[in-house]
Amino acid sequence: MPSPIRKAVIPVAGLGTRFLPATKAMPKEMLTVVDRPLIQYVVDEARAVGIEHFVMVTGRNKGVLEDHFDIAYELEATLAARGKTAALEELKRDKAPAGAMSFTRQQEPLGLGHAVWCAADIVGDEPFAVILPDMIPRGEPGCLAQMIAHYNEHGGNSVSVEACDPSETASYGIVGLGDPVGDSYRMTTMVEKPAPADAPSNLYITGRYILQPEIFPLLAEGRRGAGGEIQITDAMLRLMETQPFYAFPFKGRTFDCGSKLGFLAANVAFALEREELADDFAAEARALLKAAGKD
Ligand code: G1P
Repeated sequence: MPSPIRKAVIPVAGLGTRFLPATKAMPKEMLTVVDRPLIQYVVDEARAVGIEHFVMVTGRNKGVLEDHFDIAYELEATLAARGKTAALEELKRDKAPAGAMSFTRQQEPLGLGHAVWCAADIVGDEPFAVILPDMIPRGEPGCLAQMIAHYNEHGGNSVSVEACDPSETASYGIVGLGDPVGDSYRMTTMVEKPAPADAPSNLYITGRYILQPEIFPLLAEGRRGAGGEIQITDAMLRLMETQPFYAFPFKGRTFDCGSKLGFLAANVAFALEREELADDFAAEARALLKAAGKD
């Protein structure tokens, strides 16, 4: 059995420019799908598979993320006094266990690879997960759970992938597939945001990674790639020369909540999963579609 995945790096330094003005004073990771912030979905996904420590790579104006996972004494006391036990229990469940979160700053927006490198000292010499919080997967078991089950059998490095419309390849990292290994494939290549004509497939990286610590010295070299940024994709390509790398097709659907369409779709999908909301929400949505002549 390979070394367990105990730590997850969550890059949260991005400015969220695609969601202005909502994200002017509030981190994009606090945008809500139904009533839970994006960051809560990904922390829950990871805690469900035994991740013990979260390394948030933050930036300026992200302090509220730290507060979100802390105890809120006044709020909890008020809820307790009012007998709102369900809400209180939920707050307690959602917060991070003591000592389970570290926060480190990416001081300049030098790319995703640089953000992950900022976590190197805290992660240390062990395999780890990277979770991009604007990508919200829906599936049971969760995306990271499916990947870790594969990792426990095959070890190595892996990324989750899903099919995108061929016209969308320039928005994502795109992989090329080799032979099947269990329910994944050997990865043959990876290209960051290729034009459709240059894309090796239409399978895009959905923002979940399992990486060996040997990625860190490669990131430390600081080589610039697509968009002049230090790309995790480039370092992974180099790691692929010496270590096994798998592309893991996620059995489920990922919502790209960094885009308005994906974010709105996620809200619809997750609202329809809430027992207390589903029927009324569906009726409301049908009526709205009808009134807009879009049914
Ligand atoms: C990053 C990765 C890309 C991946 C994408 C998923 O890009 O570099 O490979 O497909 O996340 O959201 P970004 O969205 O940070 O530009």
